[in-house]
Amino acid sequence: MAGLPLARRMPFERPRGTNDYGPEEMARRRAVETLLRETAHRFGFREISTPTIEHLDLFTAKSGPGIVEELYNFKDKGGRDVALRPEFTASVVRFYVSELRNLPKPVKVYSVGNVFRYEEPQKGRYREFAQFNAEIIGAPALQGDAEVIALAIECLRSVGVKDVAVRIGHIGMLRAFLKLPPEEQGKVLHWLDKRNLPALHDELKRLGLEALEAPLREYVELKGGPDVLDKGASILEGVGREGFDYLRALAARLQAYGIGNVTFDLGVVRGLDYYTGMVFEVDSPNLGAEKQVMGGGAYTLAELLGGEPVSQTGFAFGLDRIVLAAEAEGVKLPTPRLDCYVVPIGKAFQARGLEVLIALRGAGVSADIDLLGRGPSRNLDYANTLKARFAVLVGESETKKGVVAVKNLDSGMQEEMRIEELIVHASVRTH
Ligand code: HAM
Repeated sequence: MAGLPLARRMPFERPRGTNDYGPEEMARRRAVETLLRETAHRFGFREISTPTIEHLDLFTAKSGPGIVEELYNFKDKGGRDVALRPEFTASVVRFYVSELRNLPKPVKVYSVGNVFRYEEPQKGRYREFAQFNAEIIGAPALQGDAEVIALAIECLRSVGVKDVAVRIGHIGMLRAFLKLPPEEQGKVLHWLDKRNLPALHDELKRLGLEALEAPLREYVELKGGPDVLDKGASILEGVGREGFDYLRALAARLQAYGIGNVTFDLGVVRGLDYYTGMVFEVDSPNLGAEKQVMGGGAYTLAELLGGEPVSQTGFAFGLDRIVLAAEAEGVKLPTPRLDCYVVPIGKAFQARGLEVLIALRGAGVSADIDLLGRGPSRNLDYANTLKARFAVLVGESETKKGVVAVKNLDSGMQEEMRIEELIVHASVRTH
C-alpha cells in the first residue's frame, strides 16, 4: 500500500510518438477516412486487411535502410523475429503472392490502419500513425500509374484539400545511371533522398563512383515542366530516354483524366527501396517541415517475395497529415452530430423521457438522455457542449398535450410537436 500515493501522483504517460484522439478529433479523422474509402470505391478499389505484425524479414530484406533503422521488432514468445508493420506495401504484396494472384487482373486494393516507425517525433511525424494505402497489381504500367495518381488526387479533392503540389519523378533512370547491383543502390538513394550530401559523398567514394556525385546533385534539383525531362536526359548520359518519354506519356494520360497541373521533379527518390519506375509525392505547403501528405510509385516486390513478375504501383497517405492539411485550409469536415438530447423535467417525467428516447433511437435518430438528474438549464448547457442539434424537453404540460418541446440548439427556436413529427424533423440532416 505504501506505493499507492506515489503511483497516484505520477499518472501514466503514453509512449513517445503515439497519440490519443479525443471525440472531436476522432470524428474528423473518421470523416476523412470515410471520404477516402468512398473515393477508393468510386475508383473500383476493394478493401483488404493484413496483420499488424509480420515476420521481420519481410521488411529487412526489401524495404531499404531507411525503414529498417526505424522498425519496431522483437522476438515473440516462440522465439520468432517479428516486426510491427512500418507500411502496407510489403504485406499487400506478400498476400498477393500467396493468395490474391488468382484474382482477375488488375487487382485494385486499399487498406486503412496503423503502422509503426521508430522515428524522431515532431508535429506530423509520429511513431504510430494511420495510413490509407492503395495498390494496383497487374495493370500495364502507364495505365496503372495514371490510375493511382488520379485516385490520390481525387482523394485529396474529396476531403477538400486544395493547396497541394504533385511532383512526379522516375527512380528507374537514377538506378540505371548508378550502374550498381540493386543491393548496392540502397544507400546511395537513401542519402540522396535525405539530401545528406556528406554521407552521399562518402558512399560514392566507397563505391569508387565519385565521378557521379556532381551529375547526381545537379539532377535531383531538376523540377518543373517538360523541359526538365530533356535536361535530365542530358545529365544522365548513357541512360537513354525511355523513362523520360514514359513521364511525358504519363502526363498526357493524366491530362485525359483532367489532371493538368503536374510538376516533374527528378529529385523524388522516396525512402523505400522497392521503387523501380515512376515515383510521386504530394505536399501540402501548409504543413511546415512534415509537409508530405502522400507518396508512392511503381515498384518491384512480387518477384522478390517469390511471385511472378507483374507490374505493381501504389501510394499511401498519412491520415494525420491529411487531417492537419484539411484543418490548415479551414475545411469543414462533415462530422456527425447528436440529433436529440432528451431532458425530462423533474423525476416524474423520467419514464416518459425514456419512452421518447427509445422511440427516437428505434427510428434511427441519434439520441441521448440526462443520466445525472440535472436541472433543465444545466442539461441545456450539457446538450450544447455535446453540439446536439435539438434538445427535447419532456415536462408536464407537453406530456398532457401528447407532444414534446423541441429546441433547435443552433437557432434557439422552440416548438412543440408529436414524437412522429420530431422523428421526421430530426431525420433531415443538413451536415
Ligand atoms: P511513405 O512515403 O513512407 O510511403 O509513407 C506514406 C505517407 O505516410 C507519407 O507521405 C506521410 O504522409 C505518412 N507518414 C510517413 N511517415 C510518417 C510519420 N512518422 N508520421 C506520420 N505520417 C507519416 C509508404 O509507406 C509506401 N508504402 C507507399 C506506397 C504504397 N508505395 C507504393 N505503394
